This record gives sequence, C-alpha cells and structure tokens, in this order.
Amino acid sequence: MRLEGQRAVVTGAAGALGRVIAETLAAEGADVAGLDLDAVGLDATGELVRAQGRGWTSAAVDLTDFDAVQEAVGKIVAEWGGVDVLLNGAGGGAVSPFHEMTYATWTTQMDRNLNSVFNVTRAVLPSMLDQRHGRIINIASIAAVSGGRLVRNATAYATAKAGVIGLTKALAIEVAAQGVTVNVLAPGAQATPGRDRDTPERREALLAQIPTRLLGEPAHLAETVVFLASPAAVNVTGVVLPLDGGHSI
Ligand SMILES: NC(=O)c1ccc[n+]([C@@H]2O[C@H](COP(=O)([O-])OP(=O)(O)OC[C@H]3O[C@@H](n4cnc5c(N)ncnc54)[C@H](O)[C@@H]3O)[C@@H](O)[C@H]2O)c1
Repeated sequence: MRLEGQRAVVTGAAGALGRVIAETLAAEGADVAGLDLDAVGLDATGELVRAQGRGWTSAAVDLTDFDAVQEAVGKIVAEWGGVDVLLNGAGGGAVSPFHEMTYATWTTQMDRNLNSVFNVTRAVLPSMLDQRHGRIINIASIAAVSGGRLVRNATAYATAKAGVIGLTKALAIEVAAQGVTVNVLAPGAQATPGRDRDTPERREALLAQIPTRLLGEPAHLAETVVFLASPAAVNVTGVVLPLDGGHSI
C-alpha cells in the first residue's frame, strides 16, 4: 500500500473520475473525504471506500461558495488533524459559440472549474503548510492545452482549465520548500459514462484523432493520482501531465 495512513480530500467524488480516484486511493490505504454537490452520489462512493476498509467522510457542498467550503473543509481538518492529499476533480464543461456566449455561461464556467479549485485549495493548504507535507493534484483538461481539439466551442471551459494550470505552476513554486507539491493532469477523452452517448461515427472520428487510438481509462488516471500522492513523487512538482494518448501533440 503506497498511501497507508494518508488522509485524502477528493472533490467531484460523486462523479465518474472522482469515484474511481476515491476508491483507488482507499485501496492504497488512504482515508477519504468526498466533496460534491451530489449527496446521493457521495453515498455511493462512500460505500466503495468503506469496502476497502478505509474511513470515509463527506460533505454535500457547492464548491463555488467560498464560505461554505471553508466551513466544510474546516470540519474535515478538525476531525482528521490535517490533510495529506487534495485531489481537485470537480468541474465540467459547457459549450457555446463565443459570439453567442452569455456572461452567465462564462462566469459559471469560471466558478465551477477555477474558483472552486481556489476555494478548496485555500481551505486545505494551511494544514499542509503546518505539517510541512502535502500533495495537491488538480484535474484540468486537454482543452486547456490544445483549445478545441476535443470539444468545440468550449472557450470558457478551456480558459478556466488553463487558469487551473497557471494556479498549479505558481502555487508549486510558492510552497515547494515547505514540503507541498502541486501538479495537474490534462486528460483527453476518458472512457466515462458520458461517452456512451457517442454515435459509432462520432466515436470513430474521435479515435481517429488520438495517436494511440485509445480513450483514457479512469483506472489509469487514478493510478497516476496515486503516483503523484506517493513518496516516489516527492520531487515532482509543477508538472502538467497530459493523459490523452498523444491527442494534444
Ligand atoms: N471525463 C472526461 O473525459 C474528462 C476529460 C478531461 C477533463 N475532465 C475533467 O475531469 C473532472 C471530472 O470529470 P468527470 O468525467 O468525472 O465528470 P462528472 O460530471 O462525472 O463529475 C464531476 C463532478 O463534479 C461535481 N461538481 C460540479 N460542479 C460542482 C460544484 N459547484 N460543487 C460541487 N461539486 C460540483 C459534479 O456534481 C460531479 O459529481 C472534471 O473537472 C472534468 O472537467 C474530464
């Protein structure tokens, strides 16, 4: 077990990737706290974490609400006495041609994909600095590094996720000497349930753009999170890691 005794906060833990990540972190020995809007989905993830014999706690909270996040995370930190791993996975895109985009769509995307990362990281970081140990792993997107290669008309999402990359690099430098690493994944298309809506033609067109001809497997993404959280990654920080089969090359 690479994460024996670690305490991990996972945002978006009710979602497709967050659930697999939470279960995988638990399988490696970590207790997990899940944060998400979806209380029912959190319970389902909690069952998977508990089935690994690890502790589970959760909060159904809107991560765009700064005060609510400080309160929810404050309770977790008080209960555990600290947090070792933060996985910022909550988010999601919206498409709109730029010339028709409303201000509400723009700001909602910033709130959901970027400001939420600020809110949770701001709440967790003081305990990591106090203990001089922490691993922050963010999930951005191929959209942030290659524009519309995966999803067209996603400028707001791409901009917000590019912000997550900027936050990652700047924070990595700021906290490196205090034992905290900060890295970001940039996944391409993952084999999550959302892709089941693809027509065969759409799937074929997508795979034709990906050099490996493979969708990303959530289990492989979760293994990458485990590596970045593990002792082996102590000297890895500020990295933007594409998980996209070469799609963004
Ligand atoms: N699935 C992919 O192919 C893919 C590719 C690249 C990047 N990503 C990114 O990976 C992350 C996870 O994706 P997923 O496929 O698991 O998506 P998902 O929709 O299954 O899960 C996202 C979760 O985030 C939660 N969430 C969204 N806004 C929230 C808010 N304001 N407060 C609290 N919770 C909120 C949702 O409730 C949901 O459970 C997202 O950030 C997404 O942008 C996914």
